[in-house]
Amino acid sequence: MSKYMIEDTRKVTTLRLKELKSQGKKIAMLTSYDYTMAKLVDEAGVDVILVGDSASNVMLGNTTTLPITVDQMIYHAKAVAKAVSRALVVCDMPFGSYQVNATEGVANAIRIMKETACDCVKLEGGEEIIDTVRKILAAGIPIMGHLGLRPQSINKYGTYAVRAKEDQEAAQLMKDALLLEEAGCCAIVIEKVPAKLAAEVAAKVSIPIIGIGAGNGVDGQVLVLQDMLGMDRGFHPKFLRRYADLSKIITDAVGQYVTDVKQQAFPNDDEQY
Ligand code: KIV
Repeated sequence: MSKYMIEDTRKVTTLRLKELKSQGKKIAMLTSYDYTMAKLVDEAGVDVILVGDSASNVMLGNTTTLPITVDQMIYHAKAVAKAVSRALVVCDMPFGSYQVNATEGVANAIRIMKETACDCVKLEGGEEIIDTVRKILAAGIPIMGHLGLRPQSINKYGTYAVRAKEDQEAAQLMKDALLLEEAGCCAIVIEKVPAKLAAEVAAKVSIPIIGIGAGNGVDGQVLVLQDMLGMDRGFHPKFLRRYADLSKIITDAVGQYVTDVKQQAFPNDDEQY
């Protein structure tokens, strides 16, 4: 038996996500942006792999998610989808690809689905994009919503601080979640909001709520892979649990290789032809 917690080896579908919620089973979700990592993440039993627009920060070194393009998301998502056999693969629609109007949103969502072989797209927003959400769903494309802190709106907020602490924003978030559920979204990511509010939303809607910095009262959790593996020494928000210290493992390994090459300790007699 696998040492990982994989109860069901069948491909995860959007329908399965809803079943997991109704059975009270939690959903484990992580990001991936490339073939090698996605293969390992899938093998370890993650239910959902998100090709997040956080690739803009993690893979491309930008300070926000705004610069990444549809072409770049497709490049990453294609590699991930090729590697994955079990997890549901979700691709973020990047900033600017769905905000102009529904027609552009549908066209970009269709392009992503056709060119990547992903299973679903994710969009940030609620009431203000509901027409686009409905039209993408009408085209037969599943959608995961994203509420709370929406990194694509960082220039509007001016801060990555916790969202929806005030009653008005909390009420709007609840309204948005209900609208996304009614439209037919398969799940919603809720980022960086008070745990009590996230739990209330999860209790109110029938679709899974997947939290990041949103406490334990939701239906699943998502983290950025490189963050939970400890690859960014400078990033340590309260909600992040580090499951490894890969920055140390990698720099130690590379440092040892450099030493071995310089001291002619690599390759040895067994490592040559
Ligand atoms: O882009 C991303 O990685 C995300 C997660 C933080 C949910 O949207």
